Amino acid sequence: MVVQSVILKRTFDLYKEEYEEAALRALNSGWYILGREMEDFEQKFAAYMGVKHCVALNSGTDALILAFRAIGIQPGDEVIVPAGTYIASVIGVTENQGTPVFVDMDDFMEIDADAIEAKITDKTKAILPVHLFGQCSRMDKIGEIAKKHNLTLIEDCAQCHGASFNGKLAGAFGDMSCFSFYPTKPLGALGDAGAIITNNDELAERLRMLRNYGSKVKYYNEINGINSRMDEIQAAILKVGLKHLDEGNRGRRRQAQIYMAGIKNPKIVIPPIYQNAYHVYHLFPVLVEDRDGFGEYLSENGIKTQVHYPIPPYVAECYRDWGYAWGDFPHAEKYARHEISLPIYAGLTDDEVQYVVDVINRY
Ligand SMILES: Cc1ncc(COP(=O)(O)O)c(C=O)c1O
Repeated sequence: MVVQSVILKRTFDLYKEEYEEAALRALNSGWYILGREMEDFEQKFAAYMGVKHCVALNSGTDALILAFRAIGIQPGDEVIVPAGTYIASVIGVTENQGTPVFVDMDDFMEIDADAIEAKITDKTKAILPVHLFGQCSRMDKIGEIAKKHNLTLIEDCAQCHGASFNGKLAGAFGDMSCFSFYPTKPLGALGDAGAIITNNDELAERLRMLRNYGSKVKYYNEINGINSRMDEIQAAILKVGLKHLDEGNRGRRRQAQIYMAGIKNPKIVIPPIYQNAYHVYHLFPVLVEDRDGFGEYLSENGIKTQVHYPIPPYVAECYRDWGYAWGDFPHAEKYARHEISLPIYAGLTDDEVQYVVDVINRY
């Protein structure tokens, strides 16, 4: 049916004039870094999330790296992370020489909140729930654990813009929450971009320094920072996206309903979702025994799928020295071997979703 570039082009075309107007406004301003567009986006996104501060950055990966740097993670400090996440979640820890401590996934494809406490040691400094696929993790339970053990709570919100749990937005629970605005995300830029939100004034100030070479005043570098500033064009683009975020989420929720009501093939397992979660379906994952065969069958019928994620971070080649084996986290392993994501995005029509359903039911 479509390739990735077409998916993004379709999403772009929905608001083409607004995007073009925004990009041209930024281009014509004559100010491209740390300018008004970025400040305005920071204010608007913080207001949307109901928090005091948003610090706009270059990417979601930078957001994770700087969040852990801001709390002063030291070599040997441990951070609880889900075993079945995208590698960037873990990079945020390892780039600060911290040690990720993996917790297996639950049946809902999120970190198993009931398995976290057993992994806490006297070296644990933080918990990093990752709200995967657009569903918020069990933040009631995870928030309680963080509080009880006096741990910093950092949320990886790369996939869940506008999702909520018990009526509270994903990203509004943590001490800091890290967002990616990679183009395919529920709120996507047209290039790389990211942000951290927080209610903590001190952390916000440190993050603003960290993203700007560790300085408040030019050439006075007080802390060990990097260059990670969201550029003006992406900030202007993101203000357009933010206006349409809820509408986009509603559209994907409708597409998800069509899948859930229509898929009747017992070979396709749709994972359950938490009752009290407002899922925004960044992705629509299903589990299939013969994933490769199923993917090829869909491809022959013109349907593009993706796998999230075939190699969990604990067995990634770059981390082989840790010595983990596939079987160490059975749920994460199962998802890595059997997950496949069906098409779901703004610009996909209900008829196309129904076509995917019909093809799947004939598999
Ligand atoms: C769960 C998760 N965390 C972090 C990231 C990293 O974000 P970025 O691609 O903006 O660096 C991503 C995105 O790709 C992600 O899916």
